[in-house]
Amino acid sequence: MPDQPATPVRITLVKDGPLRVRGPVEVRDHRNRLIRESDGLLLLCRCGGSANKPFCDGTHLRIGFCDDASTPDADGDATDGAQAGPPA
Ligand code: FES
Repeated sequence: MPDQPATPVRITLVKDGPLRVRGPVEVRDHRNRLIRESDGLLLLCRCGGSANKPFCDGTHLRIGFCDDASTPDADGDATDGAQAGPPA
């Protein structure tokens, strides 16, 4: 019986919100201690406002987080023309 292909992990940027992570993942801290294990759905904060980092707690809605200037397009460029990602 052939091996089943691994379920791909999919990370989706939610407009003006968290990173939606679907698939089997482990979240570990800086000491490699397991924080959470999931085979389903995780929401990771990218607004910086969560009181439960790295997980989203909905604070992005209260603070009006807007990602228009930082969301990369298919080429990896930010939508406003600025460079996405860390500086070279
Ligand atoms: S993205 Fe939801 S609290 Fe930061």
